[in-house]
Amino acid sequence: MVRIFRIVYLMVVFLLLFSVCSFAGVKLPHVVILATGGTIAGAGASTTTTVDYTPAKVGVAALIAAVPELARIARVDGEQILRIGSENMTPKDWLTLAGRVNQLLARADVDGIVITHGTDTLEETAYFLNLTVKSGKPVVLTGAMRPATAISADGPMNLYHAVLLAGAKAAAGKGVLVLLNDQISAAREVTKTNTTAPDTFKTPDLGFLGYVIAGEPQFYRISTKRHTADSEFDVTNLSALPEVGIFYGYAGENRSVLDAMVAKGVSGVVNAGTGDGSMSDGMKTAYREARGRGVIVVRSSRTGSGFIARTAEAKDDEYDFVVAGNLNPQKARILLMLALTKTKDAKEIQRMFMMY
Ligand code: SIN
Repeated sequence: MVRIFRIVYLMVVFLLLFSVCSFAGVKLPHVVILATGGTIAGAGASTTTTVDYTPAKVGVAALIAAVPELARIARVDGEQILRIGSENMTPKDWLTLAGRVNQLLARADVDGIVITHGTDTLEETAYFLNLTVKSGKPVVLTGAMRPATAISADGPMNLYHAVLLAGAKAAAGKGVLVLLNDQISAAREVTKTNTTAPDTFKTPDLGFLGYVIAGEPQFYRISTKRHTADSEFDVTNLSALPEVGIFYGYAGENRSVLDAMVAKGVSGVVNAGTGDGSMSDGMKTAYREARGRGVIVVRSSRTGSGFIARTAEAKDDEYDFVVAGNLNPQKARILLMLALTKTKDAKEIQRMFMMY
């Protein structure tokens, strides 16, 4: 009898403790959602409007309120950092975001960050943060391809999964992550590949890091390039970044656009070149002249996948050019901007392109 009482007593104590802990949210991770706008916060004229809508209409409180299930998986706070379509995102906004993310992650009571973002330049913000966040805690970017007002809007589930991921220990130390459509990608590798389809984010050649399956993040691989806490880039005291342009290669390319960028004083140019980062003979001359004026030239490719081989399509050693490896032009631009905050030496910058 005494034994039974003891067991019942222990069970009651356990249940009491469990409910007190759950009620106080002790076991739930604390995730801060930083909202910046985009289609995930978009509103259309009708429930069937999926293309002609206004992004960045819905505020962070409403985004969170639309997913009450979040309360089961995390203690969630929201901050409205920006309210824009992501085509209007600027390097100054990246610096603001990086500053706020670093501030929040330095706090012991914050376990992870979710950033809601327009999909158009989401990959760029993600890669910038991948290189400038000084913490191993999870940072997850998410967005949506259908506005919040549409039938079958993808935003609420993406937000739910992003919060789940940002609160998961398994997501720590893997660099900045991107989550849409149940798929987890590395910020460095992911890119938007389709103008309107919900299944638009892909990681060419490499594949996803993993998936959220049945409410659990499952990782199958990691990105081996340096990031976050291991990154040498520190933007803490910066209010602007060096100017870097992108020149898009095409048959019959005309150097006047590159010349205009150089005349305007860019510090670097990324060649979104044809094929293996190739340049026409005329452009090769223009790029060499730009290099002669101190502009760093990075060869990347417009093809959307693959690796740029050094000293193949151009004599990079002789011309003192840099190759982008498998970074797409828009990400090569970000790395070059950050590299230029530290050095103007092309060989040192090439080292960084191999490392990040
Ligand atoms: C944007 O990038 O802000 C608009 C498009 C989107 O979020 O899907």
